[in-house]
Amino acid sequence: MNVLGIESSCDETSVAVISDGKLVANLISSQDFHVNYGGVVPELSSRAHLQIVLPLLKDALSESKLTLKDINVICATAGPGLIGALLVGLTFAKGLAYSLQIPFVPVNHIEGHVYSGFLMKDKPEFPFLAVVVSGGHTLLLLVNSFTEIQKLGSTVDDAAGEAFDKVAKMLGLGYPGGPKIQKAAEHGNKEKVTFPVADLADPFNFSFSGLKTSVLRYVQKSFKDNIIPDNERNNIAASFQDAVIRAITRNAERALNNFEIKSLSLVGGVAANQPLRDALTNLAARYNKRIVIPDMQFCGDNAAMITFRGMKLFESGKRFELTYNPFPGIPENHFSI
Ligand code: KG4
Ligand code: ZN
Repeated sequence: MNVLGIESSCDETSVAVISDGKLVANLISSQDFHVNYGGVVPELSSRAHLQIVLPLLKDALSESKLTLKDINVICATAGPGLIGALLVGLTFAKGLAYSLQIPFVPVNHIEGHVYSGFLMKDKPEFPFLAVVVSGGHTLLLLVNSFTEIQKLGSTVDDAAGEAFDKVAKMLGLGYPGGPKIQKAAEHGNKEKVTFPVADLADPFNFSFSGLKTSVLRYVQKSFKDNIIPDNERNNIAASFQDAVIRAITRNAERALNNFEIKSLSLVGGVAANQPLRDALTNLAARYNKRIVIPDMQFCGDNAAMITFRGMKLFESGKRFELTYNPFPGIPENHFSI
C-alpha cells in the first residue's frame, strides 16, 4: 500500500510517501521569509503553500520512484492550524483523491506529532507518555493505543514554543525563537537570574505566561531602552530555557509517578531543543523507562507524521467522505484530544 500525505498547517509545506510501511519520501519546504516580519504572516503562508505544493508533490513522487497511479490513500492535515494554510493542502489532497478515485483521510496535526515517534527505528511502547511541545500546544498525554489518547494536562495560557518565540522577540533575538534562545543559552549562565516556574492546582497543567512576563519585567527593570549586553542576554535565555525545562520535566515526572507508563515520547517543534531532550532522557533513565525522541526532521512540522497517522486511521477501518469539512464552525471545535 502506498500512502501519500500533505502537511500545510503553518509555515512548512511538506509531502511524504509511506510505501508498504516504509517512509520513502519526506520533503519539507520551510517558509523562511516570515523572518522579515518577526512571525508567521498567515496570508503569506497560504500563498506560499499554493506555490510550492505541486512541485513538492512531483519531487516526492520521483524520490519514491512512484507515479500518482500507484498511490492508494491520500492524507492531509485538517487542523489545528492557520485556516488559509490548511485549506491549501486539504483542498489539494481532496482534489487528488477525487481525480484518482481513492480514499482521503483528514489528520489531526497534534495526533500527527503524538505518534511521530513511530517513524523511528525504536518505537514507543503503549501505554506511553507523550510530552507534546509545539508552537501552539503543550500537552501531557497518556497514549494507550492508536485509537485511545487520555489527556492528563495542558497549558492554561501560552504554549511552550510560543513562550520561546515571544521571549526571543523581547531579547531581540528574532524569529523563530526556539533555536535562537537555545543558541544564546549555550553561552549563558542560568544561575545569574532566576525566573519562577508556575505550579498550578492541577499537577499536570502548565502556565508559561507568568514566566514570559517575569522576563519582560526583568528586562524593563534592568536595561535602559531595551539595550541588553550580549552576556546578559545569554544569561536570561539560559535561565528562561531552564525554567521551561523544569516545568516540563516536573510534570512528566508526576505523570510517571501516577500512571502505568511503559515508555516516554517527546514530540513537537520544541522537542528539537537539546537541553530539553537531555532532561527528559535523564528523567526516563531515572525511572528505567525507554524514551523515544524523533529525529529533527520529524520534530518540526512534517508530512511523514501526518502520513503515518493517516495510514493508521485507514488501517483501523476509518473512512471519510470527500465532502468531509473539518471547519463547519469554529476550528477549535475540531481539536479532538
Ligand atoms: O511543531 P512546530 O514545528 O509547529 C507547531 O505545530 O506549532 O513547533 C514550532 C515551535 C516554534 O515555537 C519554535 O520556536 C519551536 O517549535 N522550536 C524550538 C526549537 N526549535 C523549534 N523551541 C526550543 N528550542 C528549539 N531548538
Ligand atoms: Zn506542529
